[in-house]
Amino acid sequence: MKLLLLGPPGAGKGTQAHRLMARYAIPQLATGDMLRKEVADGSDLGRTACEIMERGDLVGDDLIVDMIAGRIDQQDCRNGFILDGFPRSPAQAEALDTMLSTRSSALDRVIEIGVDDDILVGRITGRFTCRACGAGYHDVFRKPAESGVCDFCGSRGFDRRADDNEETVRSRLAVYHRQTAPLLPYYASRGILVTVDGMAAIDVVTEQILAALPAPSRIDSGDGRLLQ
Ligand code: AP5
Repeated sequence: MKLLLLGPPGAGKGTQAHRLMARYAIPQLATGDMLRKEVADGSDLGRTACEIMERGDLVGDDLIVDMIAGRIDQQDCRNGFILDGFPRSPAQAEALDTMLSTRSSALDRVIEIGVDDDILVGRITGRFTCRACGAGYHDVFRKPAESGVCDFCGSRGFDRRADDNEETVRSRLAVYHRQTAPLLPYYASRGILVTVDGMAAIDVVTEQILAALPAPSRIDSGDGRLLQ
């Protein structure tokens, strides 16, 4: 299964990708997370990307395409992958098509998670994640069961992203509408686009996505077994 989640910042791409990964035994390839790791590592790419991300603009297509091309050939992508945050421009979409066709492959489904702009700012500015395991939370919509303690790993350290402030979020939304939304008709014309209501509750969005995907079947576990 090669799946692309498309939607504006805060639509719930990361939230839904985490739920789909286990079900399909495929990894989430999130270019935003990859870039934040480069920034944290202080690499050349990270130094280039840092200021661009804090403005809410897009990092250069060539840098992003190279990053993804190296990633999809890794062993954990043998059953497919969930793209989250890539492609984000027509040039990136064309590069992805080329990348997949040279591997005799193609995207199976593109899911658009549709959310009105006016609720996205509140979603993003309330978001925080566990520093140890990366689990995502929200001040209002998804609080830890015990305040200040991660539900999954028990850690007490949480982070908020540098670009999750109102000014940068508004800039990211404008960039989405200008550069990424034009990909929707591109994928619709190929008959692989499904739109779900991203304003529904998180569980309901997951159900809508699963209804649009084939059931997992004969997944290669990597150790000789076939999972259902
Ligand atoms: P990136 O990290 O990809 O950020 P984004 O696209 O802006 O998306 P987010 O991660 O902010 O949102 P999401 O849709 O995953 O929402 P989430 O599930 O967390 O990119 C960051 C930057 O990196 C870019 O601005 C750019 O500079 C650069 N970059 C990345 N990729 C690039 C590329 N390909 N090319 C060039 N540059 C690139 O949900 C948000 C919150 O809402 C959470 O708190 C969640 O709990 C809550 N929530 C989710 N769903 C629901 C729901 N249904 N109801 C209520 N609350 C919900």
